[in-house]
Amino acid sequence: MQLYNPERLRAPKEVVESASSEAMRMLRTIADNPENKIHFGGAATVYRLPGNLCMKLFEKRSITAAPGNPISVEAGYLELLTGFTVKGVRVPHYFGHITAEHEGEENAIIMEELHALDLERVIKKNAELPNGFSVKTFFDNIEWYIDALHQRGIVHGDIELRNIMIDKGGNGYVIDFGRAKRVSGLAERESRKLEDVDWETLKKARAKFDAWAQGTMAKVA
Ligand SMILES: Nc1ncnc2c1ncn2[C@@H]1O[C@H](COP(=O)(O)OP(=O)(O)O)[C@@H](O)[C@H]1O
Ligand SMILES: [Mg+2]
Repeated sequence: MQLYNPERLRAPKEVVESASSEAMRMLRTIADNPENKIHFGGAATVYRLPGNLCMKLFEKRSITAAPGNPISVEAGYLELLTGFTVKGVRVPHYFGHITAEHEGEENAIIMEELHALDLERVIKKNAELPNGFSVKTFFDNIEWYIDALHQRGIVHGDIELRNIMIDKGGNGYVIDFGRAKRVSGLAERESRKLEDVDWETLKKARAKFDAWAQGTMAKVA
């Protein structure tokens, strides 16, 4: 007896396409309501979804300024993939990545909504931190987070105050993996697709960039 049919595990292309464009249409309706907006960024906007979830909706065909930066679909995919890979470092739970192909490069990642403030808001709003926590103690943790990511072969590539969040319990989270690079494994496989990009140099530069960004943030705090 065959308990499952491997061919049935992959839905036909038309089914996937119509389901994903339908899902994207629903997500668009949520995005149309300004009350659902959590944060507007450069290339993406974060919206609240029902059930403690949120989505990061990448703008169509958005290309970030620096050469070698991923286009929006790659950024979304990379973010999900890196989010799945990171172990032992607090990141939001990531649930999925939706692309509606016929609508260009529009795509979204679905993740847990953190009930947390990013450090930029903490500093600007002089927000109250949990007992015994100061931005300084938090920066000691950040150093640990960044080291831990590097040890797991992930260069974040976009360490800044807005990409570190802290919740009421004093837990820190690293977010925004849209420019992250795996230093080993998948990144190499992917890099072959993008021949004009010197990933090795870029990765080294990004590792340095993480350290540099960390230093810059410490000065601001
Ligand atoms: N999972 C989340 N839960 C709650 N707020 C979030 C979450 N992810 C992002 N945000 C908020 O949205 C902002 C932008 O998200 P981010 O992933 O950094 O996008 P961008 O690529 O535009 O910088 C963050 O600085 C943070 O304030
Ligand atoms: Mg960000």
